[in-house]
Amino acid sequence: MTHDQLTIVWTTAAWSGGVAAVGAVLIWLGRRASVRWLTVGVAMVAVLAVLAGTLATSREMFLSSHDLGIVALVALVAGIVALVFALAVGTALARWSRDLQERTRAFGESGQFEATAATGPAEFEQLAGELRRTSARLAESRDREAALEQSRRELVSWVSHDLRTPLAGLRAMTEALEDGMAEDPARYHRQMRHEVDRMVRMVDDLFELSRIQAGLLEPVLEPVALGDLVSEAIAGADPIARSVGVRLGGSVESGLTVHGDPGGLSRVVANLVVNAIRHTPADGVVAIRGERQGDEVVLSVSDGCGGIPEEDLDRVFDLAWRGSAARTPDPGTDPERGAGVLGAGAGLGLAIVRGIVEAHHGQVAVENVPAPAAGSVGCRFRVVLPT
Ligand SMILES: Nc1ncnc2c1ncn2[C@@H]1O[C@H](COP(=O)(O)OP(=O)(O)OP(=O)(O)O)[C@@H](O)[C@H]1O
Ligand SMILES: [Mg+2]
Repeated sequence: MTHDQLTIVWTTAAWSGGVAAVGAVLIWLGRRASVRWLTVGVAMVAVLAVLAGTLATSREMFLSSHDLGIVALVALVAGIVALVFALAVGTALARWSRDLQERTRAFGESGQFEATAATGPAEFEQLAGELRRTSARLAESRDREAALEQSRRELVSWVSHDLRTPLAGLRAMTEALEDGMAEDPARYHRQMRHEVDRMVRMVDDLFELSRIQAGLLEPVLEPVALGDLVSEAIAGADPIARSVGVRLGGSVESGLTVHGDPGGLSRVVANLVVNAIRHTPADGVVAIRGERQGDEVVLSVSDGCGGIPEEDLDRVFDLAWRGSAARTPDPGTDPERGAGVLGAGAGLGLAIVRGIVEAHHGQVAVENVPAPAAGSVGCRFRVVLPT
């Protein structure tokens, strides 16, 4: 590079650098202004840097004042074009930003971020994408909240219905006893006892559920032998099973233990077994199995219920859901089937099962399978617990 060229480079660098430094300070001072003025500032710095560099070197190069006038005119025109161009770009940026701002405000009001065609540069698009995802997450949690609220409302109305019926029965029976109109007082007493037991069970279940829902269920974990758990459940449910003519059997791999709360786990098994007995016709079989699968323990209860309709499989664990929403009496209260030993359900049992199992970091699911008694269909509830 010749000496002259070096001089030009240095002079231009110094003068353009000076203009850029002043521009940087001005842009920094005006950084809160609209993006429109920032783009104008950038364009002006570019033009003025060229102009300053040219004027400074022109002195070294001894340009005539006529030539200098031409250079200044060129810079002026180029400056005006750059200004208009920068204003246009800045205005577009400002418009995109305002559009995003309005959509965000509407999002705050309606809870829904309106997805329009892609507008603006990548950063704006990313921001809009983030807002869209937030909007979807919000919608999801709103739906969950609404479903929960709905199930709570249903629970209250169903529970009051389920309490009103036995209470009306009890009042009628006490009145009949009082008036001496009861033909068979002993039967009335038995029936009253049965109704009271059922209501006590229901209130207990509701209490348990409210604890589960409040997240108060922190199981105290201790080693529980699955074999003992299952044989206790069988011993407890066998009289009921016999009275309705259902055979109850179980097999558990020897030495199988889980870490859990013995009371809660017994409740899980008992609820599943009573359900299975209730939904299995006379001469049917209910089988409980416990086995290890990898580092998990699987406890399953199979019955001969005839299969649960596909669309109901997801709902059986819902709070207060009981097969038909019409709250009709189920076979458990049919006097022909064991004088109602099973009692009518309130639809709480499986919600409690799921609550307890999840508090143990396990999962519960149901599937339709061939029944343990050959030739028919049944369902199998599978509880998977970590060991
Ligand atoms: N083993 C099963 N076979 C077929 N259907 C079942 C079985 N277990 C439960 N269900 C269905 O799921 C519903 C909900 O069961 P859940 O145990 O939660 O309530 P419930 O047995 O009706 O009442 P509760 O357990 O509160 O006394 C039942 O009403 C029934 O329709
Ligand atoms: Mg039940």
